[in-house]
Amino acid sequence: MMAESIRASDKMWGGGFAEATAASVEAFSASIQYDARLYRHDIMGSRAHARMLARQELITEEERDAILQGLTEIEAEIDRGEFVFKPELEDVHMNIEKALTDRIGLAGAKLHTARSRNDQVNLDFRLYLRDEADSLDGLLAETQKAFARQARKYLGAVMPGYTHLQRAQPVLLTHHLLAYVEMFQRDRDRLAGCRQRINVMPLGAAAMAGTGLPIDRHSVAEELGFVAITANSMDTTGDRDFALEMLFCLSLIQVHLSRLAEERVLWSTKEFDFVRIGDRYTTGSSIMPQKKNPDIPELIRGKTGRVAGALMALLMTVKGLPLTYNRDLQEDKEQVFDALDTVKASLAITAELLGHAEFKTERLRAATAGGFMTATDLADYLVRRNMPFRQAHGVVGRIVAFCQERSCELIDLTLAELRQFSGLIDADVFAVLSVDGSVSSRLSAGGTGRARVEEALAQVERLLGMAS
Ligand code: ARG
Repeated sequence: MMAESIRASDKMWGGGFAEATAASVEAFSASIQYDARLYRHDIMGSRAHARMLARQELITEEERDAILQGLTEIEAEIDRGEFVFKPELEDVHMNIEKALTDRIGLAGAKLHTARSRNDQVNLDFRLYLRDEADSLDGLLAETQKAFARQARKYLGAVMPGYTHLQRAQPVLLTHHLLAYVEMFQRDRDRLAGCRQRINVMPLGAAAMAGTGLPIDRHSVAEELGFVAITANSMDTTGDRDFALEMLFCLSLIQVHLSRLAEERVLWSTKEFDFVRIGDRYTTGSSIMPQKKNPDIPELIRGKTGRVAGALMALLMTVKGLPLTYNRDLQEDKEQVFDALDTVKASLAITAELLGHAEFKTERLRAATAGGFMTATDLADYLVRRNMPFRQAHGVVGRIVAFCQERSCELIDLTLAELRQFSGLIDADVFAVLSVDGSVSSRLSAGGTGRARVEEALAQVERLLGMAS
């Protein structure tokens, strides 16, 4: 809601100004439309700051209590949606401080002692992103669990594994699903690393040079659960590395979701026909009555552009900035908020969608039948009989060409036909030419062999605290 313009001297910084700010400038520079979402963290930071000021005898205990009481009332008012944010007060920091001073008088005017909005906004953003890192971690874990449940449900189902989107070698569907669990685990690890660097307390850097007042930064850090304080006041006020890092983490999560989404789009086509997404999660066409479109995976894939775009935008914003704080940095928040909203929504719906996906196991198996997918197994068979791998590769290449001429598969050849290509081939070859024989033989660590995949699944379920 727009309140009427206030006189220059009423601005929080209006002392030296003779004229009121131009309305166009207020409109152009206000950030309250989006940074209001930092209000809880702003108030949390102000509480800790006020307590420290009292401990350091920079304000009295009565003043501290009035500040704490006022902040609690303001927070409740914002929670109830009754607080009116004023664009002419620019941002969340000034809106709250002004409301506090209006409410409690002089004590409110002491809250900003030894503090600048430059370190304040850095603190608020770190507090906010620390919470967001935790909620993202929870969402990633839920997504992993959705994958692990499907991986358990479809244990034993075989499917073609692809390279270059060409059928390559048969694998277990469970192995494919667990590949995504690994990606999301790395996302969680990366996020935990990012959280460590977020979790450093910036308040006390003040405008950029620190302060001459006897503050105690460590006690503020301790109260707010930070593991350390930032070391250099100039770096602190100009730093948005933590936000950039968060945007990179978000971008990579969305890229992982997008790769999955792309597979879901492909797999739900008539051409692949590997999965049924379910009516509740597809949409129809306004003209073609037969259509069931995978709009949700498409949107997840499409939204990758805005998340990666947010990372690029902030990188470019920071790129040419001289030390220390510059107003350019205000551009950080919308990008990060939008990327967070997008990734969180995408994660939640991915987990939901996955829970309702039905994999067509007969179709998946049928797709392993064509395409000579056990050719590598035949080459390995010859290697076990001491033929050098390159030579074995050539022999199997010739056998595949022979099959192509006859429009048949490797498994359709007789032993006599196979032996024309190499006398090393015996009757036991048929075990490796079958899809199941191929899959169960790949027992190298990390491979798709049934025993390895069962171990991997059990390990994942343990890690995620799931009963198997
Ligand atoms: N709204 C500002 C931002 O987000 C807060 C800091 C403003 N500091 C200043 N000196 N103008 O960056």
